[in-house]
Amino acid sequence: MREALADDLRAALQAADFTHDRVVEVLGTTAQAGLARNETTPGLRATRGGSRLETLIRLWLLQTVITREAADLALPGLVDRLVNAGFLIQSVGEVAARIDIRPYAADDLDLWVASDLTPGLDGAPNLVSPDFVLGVSSASTSLAQMTIRDQVGTALDLGTGCGVQSLHLAAHAQHVVATDVNPRALRLARFNAQLNEVDIDVRDGSYFEPVVDEAFDLIVTNPPFVISPATGERLVYRDSGLPGDRVVEHIVSASPAHLNPGGIAQVLANWMILKDRPWAERVGEWVSGCDAFVVQREVVDLPTYVELWLKDAGLHGAPDYHDRYDTWLSWFDDQGVEAVGFGWINLRRNDTEPTLRFDDWPYEVEQPIGAELAAQLRRLRPVDLTGQRLTTRSDVLQETIGPVGAEDPSQIVIRQQRGMRRARQVSTAEAALVGACDGDLSIDQIQSALEDLGVGRVADEVVDALVADGFLVNEETS
Ligand SMILES: C[S@@+](CC[C@H](N)C(=O)[O-])C[C@H]1O[C@@H](n2cnc3c(N)ncnc32)[C@H](O)[C@@H]1O
Repeated sequence: MREALADDLRAALQAADFTHDRVVEVLGTTAQAGLARNETTPGLRATRGGSRLETLIRLWLLQTVITREAADLALPGLVDRLVNAGFLIQSVGEVAARIDIRPYAADDLDLWVASDLTPGLDGAPNLVSPDFVLGVSSASTSLAQMTIRDQVGTALDLGTGCGVQSLHLAAHAQHVVATDVNPRALRLARFNAQLNEVDIDVRDGSYFEPVVDEAFDLIVTNPPFVISPATGERLVYRDSGLPGDRVVEHIVSASPAHLNPGGIAQVLANWMILKDRPWAERVGEWVSGCDAFVVQREVVDLPTYVELWLKDAGLHGAPDYHDRYDTWLSWFDDQGVEAVGFGWINLRRNDTEPTLRFDDWPYEVEQPIGAELAAQLRRLRPVDLTGQRLTTRSDVLQETIGPVGAEDPSQIVIRQQRGMRRARQVSTAEAALVGACDGDLSIDQIQSALEDLGVGRVADEVVDALVADGFLVNEETS
């Protein structure tokens, strides 16, 4: 059902110039940074002018009580309707926000996103209700930046929350399905779709249940992946209700059945690292019928992990804080867990001979990284290099290190400036081979020339690795 409210609100937000760039301009970098630390005072000082834009910033981003008069000026004819819809609350002569609405800009999109209010501003307790609907978080942004933005027919956003991934997907997928189990999230996702004038097919249900017989070209998900003992207590935006990392296992193993041939699934995930097993072996067991490129971006020790999520739930300092902390760590002990891995699981359906690659890569990468992940998935297939005329990727630079004044460097490193920003220490022969790959000569011709010059041949495995890591490319792998 279309809500006229969303259409009318959009018109008011446009009229007030409530865009990402204007908000950043009004707040300035210091107040903006303060807000990122949940501090509103610098923002309040920057928004004293009384313009409609400043009123909206105070109402939503700074969660200030504003006068009814100011609210009516900024949102003409909308205040009562927003109160009735539960977006605002009013008392005599004053109005405050119950739902956050803020501009969001990414991928050349200028959007607005409605979600629950940011908890814990200015040191207030960080308490959230079990059906809290998260706004655009750092995890949402990570997933949005890793998403492969090729044009596709159908896309699924599993666990849509406020619908932020779907808003992105709508720009490059003909049909977007968004699912969630939280009725408040479903309502906000529908509202946000309408507010931003995009069609999203929002469906109620757990995991793949709402799409049981359907397959997609692209699945993206930032699931409720927090690894905890599953005590029954649950913040639905982060806890799946399943023990350990079963939620990720379930999504990864169920995805292939919901992918069209060649379709891609991208999952932001946490996984348990067990004491006696390499993480990749465990995560690899969940993958079937797909090529996989899995990147472990971070490894977190258990106390840090437990503290992070207890604080996120507003439980730091609670009377039972120690008990909860201790119980969680004991549960990790019982499971044989040593640490928690955070990372990206990228799958591409391949019914023939899937190739899996697992990287530990905690270093900075280019953002958005989606296009590089697509290229990396293409590069998983072994390439027959016979007769191939490869090119050195244009962003690869050589660094040489050695004693001052020495004629020859003691180390040569080739480093990508873009994509995963991989670096590799190479021999003189390897550097010469990479330098010679300009698309004119085949690899075999370059190898013969290196032999003739007395530099020596580069091992085939090294050439394969240079191709697999994207230092050397052809049309298919770039
Ligand atoms: C971490 S939030 C992600 C929200 C949003 N997609 C984003 O990227 O910011 C996880 C979402 O999964 C939803 N969720 C929890 N359990 C689910 C389930 N069993 N099936 C589908 N969605 C679920 C939550 O309600 C929440 O909206």
